Amino acid sequence: MLGACSRVLRRAQPRLLPASESQRPLRLQMPTRARATFQSLEDCLVLDDGGTPVRLNYLWLRDHCRSPSSYNPQTNQRNLDTGSVDLNVRPDHTTVEDGHLVLTWPGGHVTKYSLSWLAENSYEGKKQSTVQPRILWNSDIYKNATPPSAKWDTFMSSDDEVKKFLHNYLLYGIAFVDDVPATVEATEAVAKRVSLIRETTYGRMWCFTSDFSRGDTAYSQLALDRHTDTSYLQEPCGIQVFHCLKHEGTGGRTLLVDGFYAAEKVRQQSPENFELLARVPIGHEYIETSDDHRNHMTGIGPVLNVYPWNKEMYLIRYNNYDRSVINTIPHDCVQRWYVAHRELTTELRRPENELWVKLTPGKVIFIDNWRVLHGRESFTGLRQLCGCYLTRDDVLSSARGFGLQA
Ligand SMILES: [Fe+2]
Repeated sequence: MLGACSRVLRRAQPRLLPASESQRPLRLQMPTRARATFQSLEDCLVLDDGGTPVRLNYLWLRDHCRSPSSYNPQTNQRNLDTGSVDLNVRPDHTTVEDGHLVLTWPGGHVTKYSLSWLAENSYEGKKQSTVQPRILWNSDIYKNATPPSAKWDTFMSSDDEVKKFLHNYLLYGIAFVDDVPATVEATEAVAKRVSLIRETTYGRMWCFTSDFSRGDTAYSQLALDRHTDTSYLQEPCGIQVFHCLKHEGTGGRTLLVDGFYAAEKVRQQSPENFELLARVPIGHEYIETSDDHRNHMTGIGPVLNVYPWNKEMYLIRYNNYDRSVINTIPHDCVQRWYVAHRELTTELRRPENELWVKLTPGKVIFIDNWRVLHGRESFTGLRQLCGCYLTRDDVLSSARGFGLQA
């Protein structure tokens, strides 16, 4: 299976979007011509409207019919029973009229698609578009961009402020709300303003100090190297929320690293290493056997996860603390995997890629745990942190509700 290490994943999209470009969705635009042309081949219909020709499977064309009998516009759900459609269905008649593809099927049913809908929803269109526009950053890029923080008062009362906050969060993978009262209750209120809280073994809202109350290094004063959280879950938590309620001592700055920026460097330098990290699944594990807490969780998946159709990254799992025994890689590929992993580690550890932030009472940070790694320096004194996880699906749903591309 791993003999195909030379196969290379490449992205169709620019890796780093300038701010002006990232504001607008990337969609396949079909130049409008006086008349689109089509060709009925044996296995598909080829539509050419002057841009990238799109190939449309005939069963797909019947299955996606948006007529009321096939698709309910009120519920946005399919009415058609796809299982009852002839697998070899072909239209009796095809034509292009007024910017629409019109198909007449055996039995007389008519399907009408706008050419722009087909361009956007075809595989070719999907392949050339970005699911979520992002601005990848190192320390200088982020500092020069100076994305604004939201303010507690307006954040809690203005939907427009939440929209701006989500826009920044989607682009950079981190976003801040300032002037939040330094309480667990206010932190929960800020989190709920964005989405649903994801309850885990740590509770709904968690609060920790360096008291070793749980079997995790986070509950100590030790430095923590950059990592993503809950890599040991099959679906790692999507968003992490932190609020430092109190710190009487020194140190304890938070480290943030854009994992996608580092991984894109690997893709540019060593596509074969990127491909290996994106294809080989490895395990992460969390075992806790205290009197009060018994947990044994496992999550298995590649370090880098990309959408198969456009090679866009959507998830990085990187946690050297929780990585479990590697027994999912054949012996002749293990060394290559370590080399690839080392290259990613080198990129993640470059000082210029590190953004250090001192979290103070009132400043709540939201971190995309599928993209941005976090860590901390060691500290002295009492440091009390609270926070929670949010479900990724619901955060993205909120963003789409605001018309943002996510
Ligand atoms: Fe963590």
